[in-house]
Formats: sequence, C-alpha cells, structure tokens
Amino acid sequence: MVRVKEWKTMLIKVHKMEYKPGKVVLDKSQLKQVFINLIENSLDAIEEKGIISIHAYQENEKLNIIFKDNGKGIEPDKLKKVFDPYFTTNKKGSGIGLSIVHKIITEHNGNIFVHSKLNEGTSFYIKLPLEYKWEYYDST
Ligand SMILES: Nc1ncnc2c1ncn2[C@@H]1O[C@H](COP(=O)(O)OP(=O)(O)OP(=O)(O)O)[C@@H](O)[C@H]1O
Ligand SMILES: [Mg+2]
Repeated sequence: MVRVKEWKTMLIKVHKMEYKPGKVVLDKSQLKQVFINLIENSLDAIEEKGIISIHAYQENEKLNIIFKDNGKGIEPDKLKKVFDPYFTTNKKGSGIGLSIVHKIITEHNGNIFVHSKLNEGTSFYIKLPLEYKWEYYDST
C-alpha cells in the first residue's frame, strides 16, 4: 500500500512482455537445398552399413544442425578446399554442392564447419542465429 498526503487517483498500467520462441528466418526451398546437398554428399561417401544422422537443437540463441556420416572421410589437405566452388573428388561431381550450402548459410548470418577423419566419417556443423521477438500486451 502506498500512503500519499492527498487522495489521488492513480492508474497503474502494467505492461507485460512476452518472450516469443526463436525463429530462423530462412527460405524454405533454400534450407531444403542445404539438406539435399549435404545428404547427397554423405550418400556418395558411405558404403555398406552406412549411417547418416541429422540432429537439430537450440543452444543459446542459435539453431544447431549437425549432419554426420560414417563414410570414407576427407583427407586433411582437402578439408579446407571443400567449400571452394568446383572442388570435387567425384568423377561425376561438379563441385558446387558445398559452395551453395556455404553461400546459403552465410547469407543468413550463420556458420558452417566441417570435421572429418579419413575412413571414419564426416560431420558438418551448422549454426544459424534465431530471431527473437519481444511482444508487449496490456494486462487489464
Ligand atoms: N560427407 C562427405 N564425405 C566425404 N567427402 C565429402 C563429403 N562431403 C563433401 N565431400 C568432399 O567435398 C567435395 C566437394 O563437395 P561438393 O558437394 O561441393 O561437390 P560434389 O559432391 O563433388 O559435386 P556436386 O556439385 O554434384 O555436389 C566432394 O567431391 C568430396 O570430395
Ligand atoms: Mg555434392
């Protein structure tokens, strides 16, 4: 209770703020292209008993997507070239799949990293920023 010297009418308006869950603002067809290109590469890399897994989770204000396979892996000296346009080790490949993936992710202020071990497998780590919205509403 607040004591005041004179009677006054007070109107207290409480503004509440709601924290909306994060959203990735990303073109659906572009995200689909990222998935297709990475899965196609894993399919090229795996042999019998191949496993391809995709995990997605939120951490702080980022959406993480991890593509992992147990395929043939990438030689260490080739690892830094994989996102370069036209770099390929596949006879039928054009070498643009990963450069497109890299372009889409960086255009959305995200990051992509690759980790690979020869004859063990390859993982691509994608981090995309989530957009949060604070929304005001009046409690009456
Ligand atoms: N999951 C993976 N396992 C092993 N090597 C990979 C994997 N992903 C990419 N690479 C290597 O990176 C290279 C470049 O990949 P990228 O997708 O850009 O081209 P590509 O698959 O060869 O051709 P395309 O243009 O048809 O996609 C591949 O040729 C391959 O050597
Ligand atoms: Mg490819």
